[in-house]
Order: sequence, then C-alpha cells, then structure tokens
Amino acid sequence: MSDLGTIAEANPLRQALPRAKVPEPCAIVLFGATGDLTHRKLVPALYHLDQGGHLPGECAVVGFARRDWSDQQFRDELKKSLANPKDPGFEDSWADFSPRISYNASNFDEPAGYEKLKQKLEEIDAAHGTRGNRLFYLAVSPEYFSVIVEHLGKAGLIYEDDSGPWSRVILEKPFGHDLASARELNRDISRILREDQIYRIDHYLGKETVQNILALRFGNSMFEPLWDRRYVESVQITAAEELGMAGGRGGYYDKSGALRDMVQNHLLQLLCLVAMEPPVDLGADAVRNERAKVLQSLPIWKPEEVGQHVVRGQYAGGSIQGNDVPGYLEEKGVAPGSKTETYVALRVTLNNWRWAGVPFFVRTGKRLPKRATEIAIQFRKPPTNLFEIDTEAHAGANLLVLRIQPNEGASLAFQAKIPGSRRRLQEVRMDFRYGTAFAAPPPEAYERLLLDCLLGDPSLYTRTDAVEAAWKFVNPILEAWGAPDAPPPPTYPAGTWGPVEADRLMEGTETEWRRL
Ligand code: BG6
Repeated sequence: MSDLGTIAEANPLRQALPRAKVPEPCAIVLFGATGDLTHRKLVPALYHLDQGGHLPGECAVVGFARRDWSDQQFRDELKKSLANPKDPGFEDSWADFSPRISYNASNFDEPAGYEKLKQKLEEIDAAHGTRGNRLFYLAVSPEYFSVIVEHLGKAGLIYEDDSGPWSRVILEKPFGHDLASARELNRDISRILREDQIYRIDHYLGKETVQNILALRFGNSMFEPLWDRRYVESVQITAAEELGMAGGRGGYYDKSGALRDMVQNHLLQLLCLVAMEPPVDLGADAVRNERAKVLQSLPIWKPEEVGQHVVRGQYAGGSIQGNDVPGYLEEKGVAPGSKTETYVALRVTLNNWRWAGVPFFVRTGKRLPKRATEIAIQFRKPPTNLFEIDTEAHAGANLLVLRIQPNEGASLAFQAKIPGSRRRLQEVRMDFRYGTAFAAPPPEAYERLLLDCLLGDPSLYTRTDAVEAAWKFVNPILEAWGAPDAPPPPTYPAGTWGPVEADRLMEGTETEWRRL
C-alpha cells in the first residue's frame, strides 16, 4: 500500500470525507464493468477513496461483463479513464491500486460465470484478506437486475445469515419503468435479498449540497419556524441541463424521458428533503421514514387531471451559447416521430398539515440555456406594507435559494432601505459559497455513496416503500401521456427555458418561473 496518510494530507478533497470509519475488508464486484458509469464514476470514486485512506488495505475490485477481456486488458482500460497527467504521483498510486483489480468475463445469465466468480472471490479472500465480505454493484441495464440477483443467490454469493460476513447489492437507476415493474422488481429481488442488503442508489442524495439541505434546516433554529404554509408562499425546484443526448444516450433516453430519468428519482428526493419533518436522529430508519412520508403525501391524480398539473416538452433545434444544436428528433438513437419528453414542469401540493395549499413547482429539461440545479423558497410578503417598494413581482418578500450546482451555496434575499430621505426599499442578498467558506471542494457523490454502502449505512439510499410511493405519483402522468390520443409534447427551441405552456402552471399565483 502507498503512504495513505501523506496522500490524504496533500489532497484537501480527500480530507472532506470523514476519516473516522474505514470499512471492513471486502471485495467489490462491478457488473457492467466495461460500461460508461464504471469508467466515469465508479472506478474513479474507488480509486480516490483508496488514495484518501478510506478503503481498507484488504480490498479488491472485480469487473464482471460480457466482453472477453483479461485482467490486464481491464486494468489498462481503467487506467486510461483515471490517468491524470497533472498528478506526478499517479503512476505510483496506480501501481499500488491496480494489482487488486481483476476481471471475470461472462454473460449475466450464464450460471457458469457466477461459479467462476465465486471461485475467484474465494481466491481473492485468500490473496487479499477480503474475508468473504462482498459488495455487488449492478451498473447494468435494469432488465438484468433480477437475473443477476437470482444468479448471485443460486451461486451462494448472497448470505442469508447476517451474523457472519456481509453481502450487499447496489442497484443503479432506473428502478423499474413504472409502478408495476418496480413492484415486480422489488418482489423478485426480495426473494433473495433482505431489505438491509439492498442499496438503491440516487446519486443526488450523495451530493454534498443536497445533504446540506438537512443541515440548513435542522442544524439552525432560524429557518425551521418559518418553514411551512404560514410563511412559505411557494417552492421552485429546478434541474436545468444544457446537455442533450451526448455520449450516445439517445437510445436509453428515448425509452425513459425526463419524467422517469429525473423527476421520479432525483427531483422527488430533493422535494422530500425540503418538505420532510425533522427526523428523531440522522440514522437510516429515521431519515428514510421522514422522506417516505413526504412521498406518501403527494396527490395521486387521475390521468384526465394530469394536464392541469403537468406540462411536458421536447427540444427542437436551436442555439446554446452561440453554438447551433440539433433538435431531439434528429439525435442518434431517437425513434422517428418520438413523443418522449425532454422537459417536464409540474405544480403539486402536498396533502399534509405543514404544506397544505403551498404550490411546489418542479421542472427539469435538457438543452435549456445553462446547467443549474437549485431550490428556491419564496416566503410570503409582510402582512402590511409600510414602505415604498420598487415594483418587481416579489418585492417585499424574502427568497432563499439553495444552489445545488454549480456555484454551490445559498443566498437569502431581503429588503433594505435605499439610503436617502425616502422610505424606499431595494432587494439585497446575503450569500454563502462553498468555494469561499470551505477550503476543501465537496467530494464526488459516488465516493460518499460507495463509502456509506461499504460501511453498511443506507440512509442516503432509497427504500422499497419510497420507490413505490414515487412511482405511484408518477404513474398516472405516464398513463396520460401514453394514451393513444395524447397530443405530442409541445416543442421548445434548444437554448430556451422550455415550452411557453409551462407558464400556465403559475396561473393564480404571483410567481413566475425563475430565469436562472
Ligand atoms: C442522471 C440522468 O441520473 O442524472 C441524466 O440519467 C442526467 O440524464 C444526470 O444528466 C444529472 O446528474 P448531475 O449530477 O449531472 O446533475
């Protein structure tokens, strides 16, 4: 092993993760090892965790995929995605990390491949001291989730007994395609796995700024008394992306669409964190109970009501920051005449005491003018107006914006008196920026989430009841859009803030969609 202490001290990013706990020795098996996620996120996260001293010395990585690669070929491919010409110590740390990586070529539905894996893991236990603990990461297309879990079970790779070594399974999204398929998947995998062995990942929950929502709300006393229907007028949650179908994603995305890809998981999880009640502690059960309760208080619309609450859109050709970009229908992998939405905006109120009547506006889209994810809490205006106000829609009210990315931080807008003899007010801001407040940049979401799973802490993962509650909300929307007579989504030119139809969701409020 390298001198982990020295590397961690030299690298402030690594210091941002808690150093106290190091997971037990274990082997990590990556299904979908030749895929994009493994190369872009998973192996870099494991490598950085190792560099920072967050992984035990007795830890090994096994790739599992169909391509007929050798151990060395797999290592060479991973090295290409990790190599950092600016890091003079890279070759040394790679020389330390890479011997613990190996590869198991097999189809996902081939029993012999799992027997081979079992044997390999036993050899790894002997050679690397991984003590029978196993993490299986399923970075594969969801149709393989049940198949892989079943084969792992049959090969005796999932421990039924929780008193010895552990086995855990991380499942990437999408977890199901709709409510019925999510339930079926839950049924299938729960035949083999206990709930405490299932880790459904939502990488938004691993983002530092997302975890900070609970810190802001419950680590301070001044926000929470105002955090309800008496003082909050509305909440806007936006996840805007400039990107279209880069990286050959058109084929996947065309079957998914923005509602399944972003709303059912990431955006509803943000909504949960903004709206949930204080948990009794930060343990996995307490936090996940509160998040699930928010999802359970979402309305279940009838398909014929969906149009009043939800607007979808699809990007046409346009221009983003001076560059011409094609429309969605011209992207590779997209079916001719596809009705898949690349934009969703919805207005929803929660059926609970805290939030009854407060509109939550949620939107996401591809090919919007810029990448920006934020949560804006609009507070009500003061009950009477004593001052002359320079008219803007919300002059007189306060706005708290939590910037999830980029420019991570938060800002609070309030009114100040413009110096002079008149009683005129102007909006001013208090601003917190991670970049200036903290020396260390936040760690990557996948690092945090992998570490939590290795430590056996599922609080940032999604539980069965929460997944199903999210699908229950989304299902009627899918039904409405999938109806044979459903009109195609309205288009918006790439580089604009979505279809004008979304403005009608604001009717009856003083709010407008924020131009970020
Ligand atoms: C993924 C979606 O889950 O999240 C992508 O499949 C999306 O379509 C991505 O681009 C956004 O993640 P981030 O971390 O870049 O905001």
